[in-house]
Amino acid sequence: MEVGGGAGAPLETLEAQRGTAPPRTGDGARRGDKAVAEVYEARIQQPRLKTDAFALSPFVLDGKAVSQVTLARVADRARSLAVAPGLAVVLVGADPASQVYVGAKGKAAKQCGFHSLQYDLPETTGEAELLSLVGKLNADRAIHGILVQLPLPKAVPSGRVLEAIAPHKDVDGFNPINVGLAATGEFGRALIPCTPAGAMILIDKACEALELELDGLEAVVVGRSNIVGKPMAQLLLSRNCTVTIAHSRTRDLPAVARRADVLVAAVGRPEMVRGDWIKPGAIVIDVGVNRVAGQGLDASGKPKTRLVGDVAYAEAAHAGAITPVPGGVGPMTIAMLMANTLIAAQRAQGIEHLEL
Ligand code: GUN
Repeated sequence: MEVGGGAGAPLETLEAQRGTAPPRTGDGARRGDKAVAEVYEARIQQPRLKTDAFALSPFVLDGKAVSQVTLARVADRARSLAVAPGLAVVLVGADPASQVYVGAKGKAAKQCGFHSLQYDLPETTGEAELLSLVGKLNADRAIHGILVQLPLPKAVPSGRVLEAIAPHKDVDGFNPINVGLAATGEFGRALIPCTPAGAMILIDKACEALELELDGLEAVVVGRSNIVGKPMAQLLLSRNCTVTIAHSRTRDLPAVARRADVLVAAVGRPEMVRGDWIKPGAIVIDVGVNRVAGQGLDASGKPKTRLVGDVAYAEAAHAGAITPVPGGVGPMTIAMLMANTLIAAQRAQGIEHLEL
């Protein structure tokens, strides 16, 4: 297992990573640390490891392409079912970003041949009304997956709504039953949150491309949300990573991030993770989607905007692999929602789910 190793990595880190630290006694000790460092530097120059080869040009994890493959497989499996998977997506209010996400989910559901319903409820919708709709969808045999788009208006407590969704239809994986099943490693019975599940597929692709074993690597997840940070950490832990969850109160966050062989940024702060937070050769998963000011005006005279992630992408040339924004984790989230809906429909029909 090799990780890191790009130019400029501190010697200590490389020693620990490669398990090939120069001798501290005999030769090395006599010649002193400088000489040891020279011998070591020469040694790491010799075999061109995959991670070194990618050091100045990271492997770009094309979530869009991977998601299309997943969606095609989901559609294929869905066609073989006696009853088409049914997905109901509920949007409360008119948040523009949520409208875009919900639209994309409906489009993907149709692409997969699902029975797809979308409920657009006004901002003024109360808790009782939303719970009543969830109850109706829980009882609907044609619906296998229910998703209530977050965030909800402040007046509606999201916890109570998420708890009301029947666990076997909870394709977001946010119901406490699914959270508990995932936390106890019962992945065969749980529905796993879509963003971390999609990120995990991209991490596997990165490991394959970089010829790395995920097992035993240091993973740092920046962000502790219930939607991404915590379930991401659970998944990485289940794959035998040594996992740190970092957050706004973490001391010396850049130093903690620099430990990561797998760095997941899920904080929602534009380009917060700078280049010098990233260990050379690391796999970087950027979950952030942040709209920031662009340059100039658009055709209608409005100031242009652009999307950026939580990682300063242009500073990450020394990463081993990285997800772009847009086109990285986002499309995978939608593909995993379709996969979860397929799984829920298969379970309802007594069919075992085989890996996609
Ligand atoms: N809002 C942002 N991401 C998500 C998600 O994955 N599921 C739901 N329900 N709402 C979201």
